Amino acid sequence: MDPIPWRDAWHTALYAAELGFYVTRGGPAAHFTTATHGVTGAVLADALLRLWGRSHDDPPKVVVDIGAGRGELLTHLLSVESAVGVDVVDRPEGLDPRITWVRSPGGALLPDGLHGLHDALVIAHEWLDVVPCTIAEVDDRGRLREVLVDPATGDELLGGDLGPEDAEWAAAHWPDPGPGERVEVGRTRDAAWADLVSRVHSGLLVAIDYGHLRANRPTAGTLTAYRAGSLVTPVPDGSCDLTAHVAMDSLDADELARQREVLRGLGARATGPEHARANDDPMGYLRALERVSAEAELIRPGGFGDFWWAVKHVKGPDVP
Ligand SMILES: C[S@@+](CC[C@H](N)C(=O)[O-])C[C@H]1O[C@@H](n2cnc3c(N)ncnc32)[C@H](O)[C@@H]1O
Repeated sequence: MDPIPWRDAWHTALYAAELGFYVTRGGPAAHFTTATHGVTGAVLADALLRLWGRSHDDPPKVVVDIGAGRGELLTHLLSVESAVGVDVVDRPEGLDPRITWVRSPGGALLPDGLHGLHDALVIAHEWLDVVPCTIAEVDDRGRLREVLVDPATGDELLGGDLGPEDAEWAAAHWPDPGPGERVEVGRTRDAAWADLVSRVHSGLLVAIDYGHLRANRPTAGTLTAYRAGSLVTPVPDGSCDLTAHVAMDSLDADELARQREVLRGLGARATGPEHARANDDPMGYLRALERVSAEAELIRPGGFGDFWWAVKHVKGPDVP
């Protein structure tokens, strides 16, 4: 096959009807674990509600999870009046009937019907890293060129100069890459996030992802592929997940911090329950232990603790 820009091959490989990895190969949980699965998901959900509570007197009217997988995180957010899961498949079987499900086109594209959200807590946990982006590489003459890929084999080739929008993004956010270095152009992620923000009339949006800031951009590229729990060679043929770290500081956000800092600020301590409680309330003690180890997992440097939280407040036109 003729080589094409990674951005296009990536979109087809993850989201095309009858081929896309996320459309045809089962939920993300079948291939890799994220913090939304299991007890860490429950702790994360509580933290998100506490974050909301820092700037709002009343609970959110609706919680929307973009890239909801099979609704794992939302099952811990059913105390909210309305819960909406958005992902690229039809409503998962067995999903709690209190959750509304909306099918999305995928990648940078969001469903038309999702707009005008009021008092909404909108969560995008590991969404932006699967929004396809342009991949570029500096050639040995110092020119930043688009990387093309053969969708059948994953073989790469350097193409022409970046288009003007990508070139502008790279110049603004990814300073001075040297020969052989890669640039993962965050423009499509910024645009997808801005689109999501524009759908919210009032509320709070939180993007949680692994990523980097201008001061420490990766040099070798972060494009990675997973299938059935294993790392595999990135080939955009629909057989594997394709993900790349997010330039978190180019997103339009009001707050940006590591997950470990955010969770500590929201009260995560990861210290064990009083041992005496084991006698008085053994089940409660075990639950508390389980929670503490989930907190520890979520704030662990080198693990989930390194994730970034980008938070955007949308006040609505009537709120001073
Ligand atoms: C890495 S998985 C994360 C799933 C879940 N949020 C979690 O953390 O466990 C990314 C998910 O985002 C979904 N996704 C990608 N683009 C999307 C879009 N535009 N709208 C809704 N879901 C999308 C994928 O189908 C996939 O389920």
